[in-house]
Amino acid sequence: MNILVAGGCGFIGSNLSIFLKNKNYKVISIDKLSKKYCYLNEKRLKENQIKNYRIDLKNENELVKIKFKPDIIIDCAAEPAVEVSSRSPNSVIQNNFITTLNLLNLSRKYKSKIIFLSSSRVYPIHKSYEFFKRKKKLFSEKTSTKGPKTIYGFSKLASEELIKEFSYAYNVNFIINRLGLTSGPWQFGKVEQGLVSLWLWKHLNKKKLSYIGFNGTGSQIRDVLDIDDLCSIIYLQIKKIDKIFDETFCIGGGKMSSFNLKNLTIMCQKITSNKIKIKKIKKTSIYDIPYFIFSYHKVYKYYKYRNTNDLNKTLTKTYNWMNLNKKILKKYF
Ligand SMILES: NC(=O)c1ccc[n+]([C@@H]2O[C@H](COP(=O)([O-])OP(=O)(O)OC[C@H]3O[C@@H](n4cnc5c(N)ncnc54)[C@H](O)[C@@H]3O)[C@@H](O)[C@H]2O)c1
Repeated sequence: MNILVAGGCGFIGSNLSIFLKNKNYKVISIDKLSKKYCYLNEKRLKENQIKNYRIDLKNENELVKIKFKPDIIIDCAAEPAVEVSSRSPNSVIQNNFITTLNLLNLSRKYKSKIIFLSSSRVYPIHKSYEFFKRKKKLFSEKTSTKGPKTIYGFSKLASEELIKEFSYAYNVNFIINRLGLTSGPWQFGKVEQGLVSLWLWKHLNKKKLSYIGFNGTGSQIRDVLDIDDLCSIIYLQIKKIDKIFDETFCIGGGKMSSFNLKNLTIMCQKITSNKIKIKKIKKTSIYDIPYFIFSYHKVYKYYKYRNTNDLNKTLTKTYNWMNLNKKILKKYF
């Protein structure tokens, strides 16, 4: 089976490409290398006999030149930083939406199925505040997406809707995976990549951190999905794609891997044996949210898969990788 990974030199795309290559699929990547760390990932792909085509997916003329007929296209290509999307709405909407449009046209041409990596950010900000008050609520496929959500979240929801239009009009089969915070080795601890690797990297290097927003007490709650669990679920989705398609799934760490920032600090202190100064900043961005935990119900119902990594395992694996590669990683900041 031929698999095209769009955004194969990003955090998720690179891990997934190598995972699928090891399952004996024929894998290629398309990635324009938008960040420094993408170059390191491109090298990793090459070491695993995966070719990356340095193409901007917005450019359809370039894309159609590639002589590869994919059975499945996995769309991991996006600008995922919420704050970038608020500074540059035009470029983020164009990038994320047009990329999906061009990949859909390719799916139509080759009759490929498409797996789209969407985001927990498709849900409105006010829901997070509402669920924060009633701590037991979990976000699911049934939770409403109506309301302001960030420009990034809007671009992902717009792509989801476009995929459904292509499915209706041109029989393009799809799976949409809404991911929460995802983490693990090969995530570099950059601020836009999420709290878990950022917290670890700063502890490891004894740098300063801040509890931002929600009174500066570190009380915001998240769940984290381990990259290995994500790869295993997508592998199952590929194996069952002739039977299970045209569905949207929420994939997160769930309650088992949920934490608040204060807990995360304690766990990072234990793992790294370092204690660092954490400033308290009361105010935060209009896009910040106090709470997010995904329900795992639907993905378990369809695939009978349960995550095998909790937060402690994800942190330990990521710490071991960061510690071993500390010198190299610093070059990619
Ligand atoms: N990492 C997370 O916690 C998380 C959470 C929710 C959703 N997601 C989604 O998962 C996907 C992958 O995220 P990630 O964390 O690996 O991000 P990443 O930024 O590490 O990877 C994205 C990759 O896409 C490439 N890319 C972007 N636009 C492109 C274009 N026009 N042409 C060619 N290449 C392009 C970038 O160069 C980069 O290598 C994204 O769609 C993101 O929205 C990620």
